[in-house]
Order: sequence, then C-alpha cells, then structure tokens
Amino acid sequence: MTVLPIQVLGSSILRVETTPVAEITDELQQLIDHMFETMHAAQGIGLAAPQVGRSERLTVIEIEGERIVAINPEIVEESGTDRAEEGCLSIPDIYAEVDRSARVVVEATDREGQRFEIEADGLMARCLQHEIDHLHGKLFIDYLSFLKKRATMARWELQKSKYPDLLRILTPEVIQRLRDDHDHPDERL
Ligand code: NI
Repeated sequence: MTVLPIQVLGSSILRVETTPVAEITDELQQLIDHMFETMHAAQGIGLAAPQVGRSERLTVIEIEGERIVAINPEIVEESGTDRAEEGCLSIPDIYAEVDRSARVVVEATDREGQRFEIEADGLMARCLQHEIDHLHGKLFIDYLSFLKKRATMARWELQKSKYPDLLRILTPEVIQRLRDDHDHPDERL
C-alpha cells in the first residue's frame, strides 16, 4: 500500500490549473491506485491529483462502494442548488456549509481511456463539483462570504503548525485515529 503525503492549504500546487491527460500510461495507472489508497487511509470520499502534489487533470471518488476514476472531467449540465456541510482532505478539521448545484452531468475519461458520462445528485454531485474545482485550483473556502472565510482562515491558522512544509503525512497512528473517528465520515472530499 502506498499512502502519499497530502498537500494542505497554503501549498501552491493546490492553486494551479491542472494539465489535461493526453495518454494513460502505466505510471498514471499507478498514480490512480496510490490515490485510492491514500484516500482510503485518510477516510476520504474524493481526492484530486493536486492534493498529492501532481498536476494531471485526474480525480478519484468512492462513495458507498461506487468507485469513479475521472480523467479530464467536465461538467456538461447542472441544475438546482443544495446547501450542505463540506470538508476537504487538504484543509483538515475545517468544515463549512457550501452551496452547490443539486444535480450535475459530468463527462470524463475512465482509466481504460473510454469517455463516459455520469449523472449524479446528492453527495456524489457535491463530490464531483468539489473535485473538479480542485483540478482548476479552486477550494471550497473560496465560496464562503468574506466574514465566514476570515473566521475559517483564523481557525486554520491554529491548525497549520501541525503540517510542517504544508504536508499532511498519514502515519499508521494517524490512519488508525481517523479510522476510529466517525465525526465527519462523509464530508472529507
Ligand atoms: Ni478537497
């Protein structure tokens, strides 16, 4: 099992536009496997390449056993609005309510190189939007009002020192603690 270090808020790669994937190589397949392993270790439901320090336009999601590999994903349709609490593996222990489209249709390429379409609502729709944002350098805190963002950033300032070099290292102890803690099992995107 390979658990990659997760870049946390403040790391510049989280703010960079990703590069579309042109070819699905063995190396990319391996990255996909490592991203799933890292996401599971972190008790997350979604993880985007920039969060593990990579610039490929790639994200992985797993919700209730439904696994999605989305390469070069694009939202082609969206409707409605839905407000719910959201968190991010790159901004640990910080949660806020975020408005998202209630329903989305996303077009993407799977790990075999086939283009596919997924229609989603609920948590899957939220997760797809959150991860696709990551691929364009956007984070959920960007949706908060000025005051909410300021309060959130103040809370983050207190957390930040836990992550030297803006890296979150998932040691076996951390992985075990996350496994035991079910406070926010569904909101880590
Ligand atoms: Ni995230």
